[in-house]
Amino acid sequence: MSSFLDQIEPLKQAALAEMKAAFDLAALEQAKFNSLGVHGKFTALLKQVGTLTKEERPSAGKLINLAKTELEAALTEKRAELELKAALPKEPTDFTLPGRRRHLGKLHPLTQVTEDIVRIFRKLGFVVADGPEIEDEYHCFDALNTPSDHPARDTQDTFYLAQPSRAGFQPASPGVSPANPSEARTTSEGRQDARPTRAQPSQRLLLRTHTSSVQIRVMETQAPPIRIIVPGRTYRRDNADATHNPTFQQIEGLYVDKNVTVGDLKGTVEFVFKELLGDEVKLRFRPHYFSYTEPSFEIDFSSSLVRKMGKDWLEIAGCGMVHPQVFENVGYDPEAWTGWAFGFGIERIAMIRYGINDIRLFYENDLRFLKQF
Ligand code: DAH
Repeated sequence: MSSFLDQIEPLKQAALAEMKAAFDLAALEQAKFNSLGVHGKFTALLKQVGTLTKEERPSAGKLINLAKTELEAALTEKRAELELKAALPKEPTDFTLPGRRRHLGKLHPLTQVTEDIVRIFRKLGFVVADGPEIEDEYHCFDALNTPSDHPARDTQDTFYLAQPSRAGFQPASPGVSPANPSEARTTSEGRQDARPTRAQPSQRLLLRTHTSSVQIRVMETQAPPIRIIVPGRTYRRDNADATHNPTFQQIEGLYVDKNVTVGDLKGTVEFVFKELLGDEVKLRFRPHYFSYTEPSFEIDFSSSLVRKMGKDWLEIAGCGMVHPQVFENVGYDPEAWTGWAFGFGIERIAMIRYGINDIRLFYENDLRFLKQF
């Protein structure tokens, strides 16, 4: 028995020494294997306990377990030390090296222009309004005095949506639904014929061709006076080229109050463009036709950059005095209220501002382009 007990201490010491000497985690694992592994020396000793007499076993077992606990503690401690060592950099750190920079992102040029325009209009007391991009035909055209047989519809062809059912999807509205909601009629072939009649305006869904639809949605839900601008995405069935894209962005403006005049419209538009593009810019109002304004104008713009592009004037916006029929359609008294409205393309303004000659550059997400603004 005593010879058995005598073996414990030297074996333990040898195992501890081997662990202590381990210079990396692999060497430590080897040391553990040599003593505590299945065929390890300590394990062999443990197995011998079974050969002792019944009386000797408890004290021998106790001593061996104590030694084993000591070995395991030493193992844990050494492992932590070696793990820390392994995690340390292999080479000294040079704290004088410059840090790695994170690149700051930027707002897209179209977003910058939009935000600038909104900021300028806010100075004049305008607020931003919003409306659905998936719009119904009534709000996009009919309510704006543009019935389905109106020639002005040809210039604003767009993408129509297949409606899941008559009572299906309704575009989100900032307020109540249209004044006279209609049901689509079903033709003999079972197709839905949603041609509007006066009594039944069309709810056929489409991608809005202009932000003018939001004029209607706001006036339907709010009483005058109104002072809003509406930045937003618009769609047309256009082929992409240097100046067109099927998806583009507009800003609409609407001002309704008592005794509003064309002078107010001109003064406001001139103020905004001078703030945005500098004092040297010139604007020209040219008579035009829009079905929702009377009189109507197109606004032409001139600046040194426009002249550099080889033109004297560039058409940038449509505008006019709100047509009495539009007021009637939303339930405003056209005898009591007057107003002006305008709409322009944000891309066009950004192209003029930055001297960009191809609209498609805005949508390519090429960082070499975007980083310049
Ligand atoms: N909606 C027109 C377009 O997309 C622009 C426009 C013209 C808006 C006259 C207006 C307006 O509000 O009064 O071409």
